[in-house]
Amino acid sequence: MKVTYYGQSSFILEMNGKSLVFDPFISPNPKAASIDVNSLKADYVLLSHGHADHVADAETIAKNNGAKVISNYEIVSWYGEKEVTGHPLNHGGKWKFDFGTVKYVNAIHSSVLPDGTYGGNPGGFVIWDEGKCFYFAGDTALTWDMKLIPMTCPKLDFAILPIGDNFTMGYEDAAIAAEFIDCDKIVACHYDTFGYIEINHDAAKKAFEAKGKELILLDIGQSIDL
Ligand code: NI
Ligand code: MN
Repeated sequence: MKVTYYGQSSFILEMNGKSLVFDPFISPNPKAASIDVNSLKADYVLLSHGHADHVADAETIAKNNGAKVISNYEIVSWYGEKEVTGHPLNHGGKWKFDFGTVKYVNAIHSSVLPDGTYGGNPGGFVIWDEGKCFYFAGDTALTWDMKLIPMTCPKLDFAILPIGDNFTMGYEDAAIAAEFIDCDKIVACHYDTFGYIEINHDAAKKAFEAKGKELILLDIGQSIDL
C-alpha cells in the first residue's frame, strides 16, 4: 500500500485502486507549501475529528474530486450542508466500502468544527481488506481502549500515531500505544508543525527501538510502500 505524507496528520493511502485522503491540513501549513491541494486525487476523505488542523482542506479536496467524507455522524452532517456527500459512522461501528472495511474507534481528545459547530466525539479508523490492516489514530492520548483493537480487528501491518505531545500523546506514550495495539511499524504524525509539538527525532526513534518497534518519520511529500 502506497502511503504519502502531507504534513501534520495529512496522508493519502492508496488501497485497492482508491485514494483515501486523511485529515487534510495542507494549504494553511507553511511546511507543506510545496504541495498543491488542487493536484490531490481522492475517492474518500476520512476525518478523525473536527479541528481545523485536520479538516482545513477537506471541502476543497472532496469537491474537486466528487469524493465522499467518512467520519462521525456530526461531521458528515456538517459537510452534508455544504453539499459534500458522506458516510457517517460512530464508535465501535464498521462498514464495508469498495476499498475495504472501516471501523471507527475511540480516541481521547476533543472535537469542534471550524465554525464552532459541535464535532461529535473524536475517533480513529482501523481499515482492512483480505491482505492488509492499518490503524489511523487521529488525535488521541494513550488510552487503554487501544487494547481492544487487536482483540476485535485483524492483525495490524502498520499504524499512524500522533507523537508530538502537548495536544496528543507524546512519543513515549505512543511507543506504549504500539504495544497496546500489537504493532511493530509506526508512521508518525502530528509533530513539528508548530512550536508546541516540535520533537527530537532521534529521541523519538530510540523510544520505539527500546520496545523493538520501528518509528517512521516521513518528509512532507514523501511516499513509502507499506
Ligand atoms: Ni485535534
Ligand atoms: Mn490536531
